[in-house]
Amino acid sequence: MRKTIVEKISPDEEPFSEIEEQALRRAGNIIREGGLVAFPTETVYGLGGDALNRESSRRIYAAKDRPSDNPLIVHICRFEDIREIVREVPEAAVRIAEAFWPGPLTMILHKSERVPRETTGGLDTVAVRLPSHPVARRLIACSGGYVAAPSANRSGRPSPTQARYVVEDMDGRVDMILDSGEVGIGLESTIVDLTVTPPQILRPGYVTREMLEEVLGRVDVDAAVISDGSGQTPRAPGMKYRHYAPRGELVIVEGSPERVADYMNCQAAEDKARGEKTGIIGTKEFLGQYRADVVKCLGERTDEESIARSLYSVLRQMDDEQVTKIYSESFSGEGFGQAIMNRLSKAAGHRVVKV
Ligand code: TXA
Ligand code: MG
Repeated sequence: MRKTIVEKISPDEEPFSEIEEQALRRAGNIIREGGLVAFPTETVYGLGGDALNRESSRRIYAAKDRPSDNPLIVHICRFEDIREIVREVPEAAVRIAEAFWPGPLTMILHKSERVPRETTGGLDTVAVRLPSHPVARRLIACSGGYVAAPSANRSGRPSPTQARYVVEDMDGRVDMILDSGEVGIGLESTIVDLTVTPPQILRPGYVTREMLEEVLGRVDVDAAVISDGSGQTPRAPGMKYRHYAPRGELVIVEGSPERVADYMNCQAAEDKARGEKTGIIGTKEFLGQYRADVVKCLGERTDEESIARSLYSVLRQMDDEQVTKIYSESFSGEGFGQAIMNRLSKAAGHRVVKV
């Protein structure tokens, strides 16, 4: 057990105050010396260590209780730094970096000798991302330029979208937590594999297939991302685990709003009679119709960004309230909705009921 220091840093654009700048430099030194610092990005909070130090990567896996065959994303703060860690930079990488970096996009490329296999989970490829969050970028610069960072949750829990969730999962397991309040996007970055032709999306996110195709031409989506979870092995090793899971049993209900409400209310009443604590997750438009012990709002159905931002937080709140049976509305599998449904469906262990 170590002592975890929490430092508040305003998420607003630089310049940072003198005190914030000092905290960021201290955080950078912790990472240079092999320690761990959790920090905000525009997607979710990350758990950072020196990507070029194999010991740091081992520590990250230990802090998360994560299997070490699950590779880490290397975060950089300047495009040119990518040359150090990949074998070559293909034209496609330059084009999508121009379009989407800094931002919520991760590229898979062939790794260079500098990246230890501990960081890539034994693979010859490396995941690289240049985040846009000013705190993340300053921290990476202060840390020597290469920060390996998975989401800062314990393995199996939803990714943290607020520093207080990082504290819940990581207190005593990391040296420092940089607290910049709530993140902007709320779902992890889009991962695109550029080592295959055509490029393939391994994890959907804010940068959609349509957006990538505008820059790259044809882009495929890993079949496991859109399947029901049976059969297909996802190509991103981390996608095979039952991530993002609330402790209660979650079921997604698909159908017309009236039938969905009827079904969820009936099930919840039956569950309650059996002694379960029940929860319903829905959107503002339909929330008034739901009857359960705990009813949580994800945001407005017409505003996918609000839904993405609150999804993980709502799943954690269901845990906090010790709900044992949860029902959720379903979302469209198009555009950014694909990322929302992908995470929700994994959280539900792919239990979807059509009514
Ligand atoms: O938004 C994000 O990407 C956040 C923030 C902190 O940047 N990070 C994040 O990291 O979500 P993590 O470790 O929770 O998820 C990384 C995913 C895993 O599914 C992993 O298997 C996949 O990326 N991955 C990493 N390197 C890979 C590689 N070389 N080939 C295929 N998949 C890879
Ligand atoms: Mg994760």
